[in-house]
Amino acid sequence: PAPTDYQAEDATISQGVVESNHAGFTGTGFVNYDNVAGSSVQFTVSAATAGTHEVKLRFANGTTTDRPMDLTVNGGAATNVSFPGTGAWTTWVEKTVTVSLAAGANTIRATATTANGGPNLDRISI
Ligand code: GCU
Ligand code: CA
Ligand code: CA
Repeated sequence: PAPTDYQAEDATISQGVVESNHAGFTGTGFVNYDNVAGSSVQFTVSAATAGTHEVKLRFANGTTTDRPMDLTVNGGAATNVSFPGTGAWTTWVEKTVTVSLAAGANTIRATATTANGGPNLDRISI
């Protein structure tokens, strides 16, 4: 099936702000994570079938320093994912991660794990 987009600016944001000052985002903006460990964005997504699914996270990181984040599904074990520099805040790329989802509604949270916070996050697609 075609992927469904879930915009970060419509998700539940903890320690971050919605902005639109760096071109190339989709939807109405992106989330600028506060530059602290623990800042997070949580999505509620729907899966037709239980099991593994590819999640694409569209982000920009205009620095040369990785902005890793912990990905958790339904409050389970965290997977630390790398979000390296993309060259500019206007250069958006997709990172693909495989996650295990339940059938129906699932929560996916992306939490910054360093004092630099997360990258700017545009959306996720599943
Ligand atoms: C700049 C940029 C922000 C970004 C921030 C950061 O201020 O404009 O979009 O989030 O750097 O380093 O996190
Ligand atoms: Ca930031
Ligand atoms: Ca967006």
